[in-house]
Amino acid sequence: MTNPTLLQSQGAQFTRIYSYGAARGDLVVPNEELVGPIDSSDEWIRQRTGIVTRTRASAGVDATDLATTAAIEAIEKSGVAAGLIDLVIVATISNIRQTPSMAAVVADRVGANPAAAYDANAACAGFSYAVTQADALIRSGAAHYALVIGAEKLSDVVDPADRSISFLLGDGAGAVVIGPSDTPGIAAPVWGSDGSKADAVGMNATLVDFRDGTAPWPTLRQEGQTVFRWAVWDMAKVAKKALDAAGIEPSDLAAFIPHQANMRIIDEFAKQLGLPPTVMIARDIATTGNTSAASIPLATHALLLEHPELSGGLALQIGFGAGLVFGAQVVVLP
Ligand SMILES: CC(C)(COP(=O)(O)OP(=O)(O)OC[C@H]1O[C@@H](n2cnc3c(N)ncnc32)[C@H](O)[C@@H]1OP(=O)(O)O)[C@@H](O)C(=O)NCCC(=O)NCCS
Repeated sequence: MTNPTLLQSQGAQFTRIYSYGAARGDLVVPNEELVGPIDSSDEWIRQRTGIVTRTRASAGVDATDLATTAAIEAIEKSGVAAGLIDLVIVATISNIRQTPSMAAVVADRVGANPAAAYDANAACAGFSYAVTQADALIRSGAAHYALVIGAEKLSDVVDPADRSISFLLGDGAGAVVIGPSDTPGIAAPVWGSDGSKADAVGMNATLVDFRDGTAPWPTLRQEGQTVFRWAVWDMAKVAKKALDAAGIEPSDLAAFIPHQANMRIIDEFAKQLGLPPTVMIARDIATTGNTSAASIPLATHALLLEHPELSGGLALQIGFGAGLVFGAQVVVLP
């Protein structure tokens, strides 16, 4: 039997990020407020992580609310009508319900119903992964305009007495609108995983353990030194590969926007990449903390507000975290 030739979609040749939006938790939480249950100090946290305060959201504000606020700003700034957005991806690890997705709810709230919508769980690499997906789906013709959001309320999954991670985490959401472009705006990604290190960072119990009374409410925990070493050695190499994949040199960058996990990791990356002083480095962690999938778009949003002259320049972004997973690519800043 001979089939008729199928129509396969083909989309834009290139894509770019049109705009950023951001929403941080409404509470500014200084180190002093957290040190009691973990036998720590403001000085230790500042020296070891660079965090001075982190933002967290009030009770009653969930990750979907933060995602919606960030998305509305990104859409407004993009100049794209919400009704033209036909793809919404939310990168998150902190949706308080396993289903429905945050993405479907946000799509409806911002006026992008009936866009294709789903959540992606790639922890702190989630935003980079979702940008890769949106770029690929627009270039394939499966979508035309995408809303990509990293959104987390990590304070829901923090044990205040866990000194491995509790002091690092914050709440927030960052969003971008991605669409067709006349020139390349999102370079080839370098992404991957290493599930053999799945135990290095993640939840300390399952929901079934919790239901059965064999574990308290599951929270995030990590082997800090294992993750730190992996980040500094392996992720610096991934960042270099992402520059190669884009066909550029460190000196071509306007900005470097790594996942905001630890200021010492950020400094080490900058050293290993040999970034010249002309490259702006995102250091949003000092006042926002680590917001997992939200950290890169939040840091980019802050950098663009502070340095509007970066507009049109190249930025290297790299996310890495639980899985373990990593994702990096060079993008043109809107
Ligand atoms: C968590 C992290 C900040 C800990 O910093 P560190 O320098 O590795 O700290 P160490 O575990 O080596 O501990 C150093 C000392 O501080 C102590 N310490 C550990 N946690 C502490 C805390 N929260 N407060 C005070 N002291 C602490 C240790 O007991 C140890 O004391 P000792 O020297 O007397 O034995 C760091 O490992 C880190 O940022 N890891 C990577 C995080 C990351 O990238 N996550 C990505 C996924 S989101």
